Amino acid sequence: MSSPLSLDDDGQGDPWVLLHSFPIDRRMWASQRQALVASGRRVVAVDLPGFGGTLPLATDAPSLDGYVDALLATLDRLGLDRVTALGLSLGGYVALRLAARAPERLRALVLADTRAAGDSPETRASRVLNLGLVRAKGPPALIEKMLPHLLAPGAPDALKDQLRRWASEQSVEGVTGALLAMRDRPDATSVLPGLRCPVLMVVGEHDGITPAAEHHAMAAAAGGARVEVIAGAGHLSNLERPDAFNRSVLAWASEAGLP
Ligand code: MLT
Repeated sequence: MSSPLSLDDDGQGDPWVLLHSFPIDRRMWASQRQALVASGRRVVAVDLPGFGGTLPLATDAPSLDGYVDALLATLDRLGLDRVTALGLSLGGYVALRLAARAPERLRALVLADTRAAGDSPETRASRVLNLGLVRAKGPPALIEKMLPHLLAPGAPDALKDQLRRWASEQSVEGVTGALLAMRDRPDATSVLPGLRCPVLMVVGEHDGITPAAEHHAMAAAAGGARVEVIAGAGHLSNLERPDAFNRSVLAWASEAGLP
């Protein structure tokens, strides 16, 4: 039994669920929440287990399935049968795992700055180093290491400082739990051809962690999903270019006939 997810639940209308990236929390979605609510939708932004106000999973082996169990329990509690899931990076891994396990709960799927494949051997090795770093020095040391890769060149210092603040507020247990869950996550590539709902890929032009080429490949595997490349953005495209990100998502939602 997982603890309830902390969340913001705003607006009325067709429900969207927003799944944050690593190692931050649901505060990253402020601009998207506002835009989606203004477009007449209900928006539930959750903190995944171990982030923000949500307790870590009570297990020695945290997994994406543990996150999805907690998410499904939250949807049940809110009475949400079907949602549009929007996940960025770690949030995209969770959204794809939800698609694999409970496709009937998805009205549509937005995968942003993420990947379907599992970790490469190099990434697995760097997860092990990062586990040691976080255990020894805490999340602030990890975000310092990650920052040069998260944002496009020339990103404003204010955004870097915000990411430092958010990351340093996360618990060691939550961050190490996510490192283990990401390291051991299953490859979700085979999920893509079976997706039966509208799918959008969004990626920052300068995303060096999950590059645009991977999103084009995922879109092709998903039967020709749309790819929106956000000019000038890096890996955290929703925070770096919020207006362009929101415009892309809302235009697609209306063309896909989402209520
Ligand atoms: C994220 O932004 O959530 C992370 O870069 C994901 C990862 O480390 O694989």
